[in-house]
This record gives sequence, C-alpha cells and structure tokens, in this order.
Amino acid sequence: MTPVLAGSRAALAAARGGLASPVVLVPTMGALHTGHRALLGRARELAGAGGSVLVSVFVNPLQFGPGEDLDRYPRTLDEDVAVCGDEGVAVVFAPGPGEMYPAAPMVTIDPGAAGERLEGEFRPGFCRGVLTVVVKLFGLTRPDIAVFGEKDAQQLALVRRMVADLDLGIDIAAVPTVRDSDGLATSSRNHYLSADERETARFLWRALRAGRDEAASGAAKALAAARAVLDEAACAEPPLRLDYVALADPRTFLEAAGHGPAVLAVAARVGSTRLIDNVTVTLPPPQARP
Ligand code: PAF
Repeated sequence: MTPVLAGSRAALAAARGGLASPVVLVPTMGALHTGHRALLGRARELAGAGGSVLVSVFVNPLQFGPGEDLDRYPRTLDEDVAVCGDEGVAVVFAPGPGEMYPAAPMVTIDPGAAGERLEGEFRPGFCRGVLTVVVKLFGLTRPDIAVFGEKDAQQLALVRRMVADLDLGIDIAAVPTVRDSDGLATSSRNHYLSADERETARFLWRALRAGRDEAASGAAKALAAARAVLDEAACAEPPLRLDYVALADPRTFLEAAGHGPAVLAVAARVGSTRLIDNVTVTLPPPQARP
C-alpha cells in the first residue's frame, strides 16, 4: 500500500475526507524506527479491517529549546513513507513549519504543574510545545484514536490528561517501549551515539532494572539502587551526565504516592545526546516493606 503523502492542510483535508472510520492517528517526528513500527502495528490493529491509519511526520519547533537538536534532528521523509507503506498506513501528513504554524501561536496549551517537573524542568517549554502541537494535529486530522509510546511516559500522561480535561473525545492508546537487543530503548536520537557513547547509554536500562528489582523494598531503596548504577555510569568513558532519576505517579506525573504503581523515569546526556527512559514499578504499602 502506498500512502497518500499530504504536505499541506488542504491536501490533508482532501485525503482525510476519504478515510474510513475509525481513523487512528500516530503522531511522530519522523526518522521512523522499530519503536514507531510497534506504534503503527498497534494503530493498524485498532483501526481494524475497515478503519484507517494516519501518520503525522513533523519536527515540531515549539518543543525544542535554544541550543537543542532541532536543526540536526534526522529528517528522512522518503524512508518514513516507505515504512508507513509497509505498515498499512493510508495517509502521511508531513507539513513544513510554515504550514503548521502560519503565525507564531499566541494561544498554547498550559501543561499544568506536572509539565514543570522532570522533562518540563530540564527542557523548559517542552511540555507546552508537545501539547500544543498534539492538539493542533488532533484538530487537523480529527482522529477517533491516537497512539503514543510509553517511552515518553510524561508526554503520554499529559496528553491523556489534556484529552480528559479538555473533553477532546479521542481515545489514547499506549504501546510499550521497544528495546534493542542491548536494552537501549529505541529512539531517533540513538543515531547520534558513537559506539563508545552507546556503551555508556546502556547504563540507563541497567539503572532502571536495578531500581525495579528493589521496588518491593520501597521508593527510597528503588531510587538508591538506580542511582548507584547511574553513579557508576558517571565515571564511565565517555561519562553519563544525569538530568534526573525520579518516581512519578503514572497518571499525573506528579510525585509518586510512595505505594502502588509508579514510573521510574530517568533522563541523561551522553556526549551531546540526551536520552530518556522509564519502567513501571509497583511500590509496596508501608507495612509490607522489608
Ligand atoms: O513523541 C514525539 O515524537 C513528539 O513529541 C510528538 C508527540 C509527535 C509531538 O511532536
């Protein structure tokens, strides 16, 4: 199947008009990899035999801060369209920045308190930029369902909350993180890593596993176990430079309650590459702690 490639709002509107429901949107920034293929596969399942999958490919300037990798972010539209063809996608919407933002937006989406933490703290404006482009993509593509990856757990939680708080009437589906054989979560930014940097980057997954293994002993022990691995990684060559490791409530992304399900999230830099990853853990009630 060769998808229709729509580069403008008008082309999208024409293509969208012919799509059978349910329409399932997969918003992406392109440079599609195996993690995206999992999102597309899930979207195809959700669309069923009669429905349609629509993919957006847009590197959103609003979610990049000064000095971040907006200019060098990989742009591989031809390959992306081929991947979408393999995965049964009907339409690829790939607007340029001027098409998406004909004028600098005066009105944007406030992510609230959870948008100031973790990614929001280390990437000011990131959460606002993501929610603003996602709501625009929802408006332009009018999906019944949208699919996001659990790797961007804070983004997923904020999108879910936005849809609920603003009554957008779109079902949000989540897809588990896809990992390469060395444990590194798939990401378009992995392409930036040299072989040595990739070795260091593998500490992220080791730290998350160490934290998960200690979770039954409580939040403090889980964090300490993850930090011990990250401290080791800070002495590797090249070193890992930690932005944060934290436990968050999976639904709100505010601080985790201390018991029940929590997301153990980590963000760090290796060389000039910033990586994030997370794992879901279950923290015991206070009386059950060893
Ligand atoms: O996860 C991403 O690729 C982006 O943050 C998204 C959701 C496509 C918005 O630009």
